[in-house]
Amino acid sequence: MKKKIAILSGDGIGPEVMQAALKVLSTIEKRFNHEFQFEEALVGGAAYDKQGEHLPKKTLEICENSDAILFGSVGGPVSEQGSEKWKNCEKISLLGLRKHFLFNANFRPAKIYSALADICPLKNKLIASGIDVLVIRELLGGIYFGEHKTEIVNQKRKAIDVAEYTEDQISSIAHIGFQAAKQRKQKLVSVDKANVLDTSKLWRTIVTEVHSNYPEVMLEHMLVDNCAMQIIQNPSYFDVILTENMFGDIISDTAAVLPGSLGLMPSASLNSNGFGMYEPSGGSAQDIAGKNIANPTAQILSAAMMLKFSFGLSEESKIIEDAVEKVISDGGRTIDIAREDLNSISTLQFTERIVNIIKHL
Ligand code: IPM
Ligand code: MN
Repeated sequence: MKKKIAILSGDGIGPEVMQAALKVLSTIEKRFNHEFQFEEALVGGAAYDKQGEHLPKKTLEICENSDAILFGSVGGPVSEQGSEKWKNCEKISLLGLRKHFLFNANFRPAKIYSALADICPLKNKLIASGIDVLVIRELLGGIYFGEHKTEIVNQKRKAIDVAEYTEDQISSIAHIGFQAAKQRKQKLVSVDKANVLDTSKLWRTIVTEVHSNYPEVMLEHMLVDNCAMQIIQNPSYFDVILTENMFGDIISDTAAVLPGSLGLMPSASLNSNGFGMYEPSGGSAQDIAGKNIANPTAQILSAAMMLKFSFGLSEESKIIEDAVEKVISDGGRTIDIAREDLNSISTLQFTERIVNIIKHL
């Protein structure tokens, strides 16, 4: 199979974990006789330095001419958020890409590797029955994309953010949610705040209507505050969680705590044509950038999601997932997932182990 992939490494640990993912993809390419053409493009602070903007037109063109986008991370150090280079960097880069390509569906899986149960912050008895949650977040609506403004009213500052949802936006993501649940454990929890918000009331109504097409899936509605609590108290209760943009942002970070490190969390954003962008759920982690200690798992698993979702290469994708799991169960640990009694290995060493397993699996 011949595919063109736009490579947007970005800032912080982005470039080094991207190198790891590219090594893994090249190994898959050779083993299965595919041809992956990587097209590098600038984004975030890295783009600002060279081209004076966070999301250059050239980058969008490279993405448009590719079969999928593999994205690293963007953003600057916490102490420099106010500078021209970093101001609104994540918002412009990420929301810009989402809007440009109409990525309305965001998939954020969270599972616990049994070998890593000790780094999950929850008590053992809470995770004993295993955890495998998929958060599906609507990515183009709600308060993120409504009108934002700050004005002066009676000499006092006032800020307004509008939350909007249309019936079509909700039904489109609801179908995606039910289809995903159908492939998994047939259980979908739809999360809203229907006791207060009109957007949530409409959300609940439309999700219930769409449910009639998927009688085999069990649907439950849950209020977002309760959901945040249940993810901690009873995480194995969940299979697919479907929710709107803002709640999905928060709930997916809550679920991301379960595996024990953000460095393990991949994600995928897709539009209705199946075009997708794949990226780690974590940020640019500037504090550890350039030290060869970042966990490349999230980036590597994002590449695996790309192979499966965008190219239909399920076997290749599974081999990558199995290789990651094997490295971890054999005791391979980057520093974020290491226990005191186990030595940690570098980004490169961890990647080499994965590559070797893929070569021999
Ligand atoms: C995410 C991020 C983004 C979001 C930010 C960086 C704009 O937190 O992808 O979850 O809020 O969607
Ligand atoms: Mn977020």
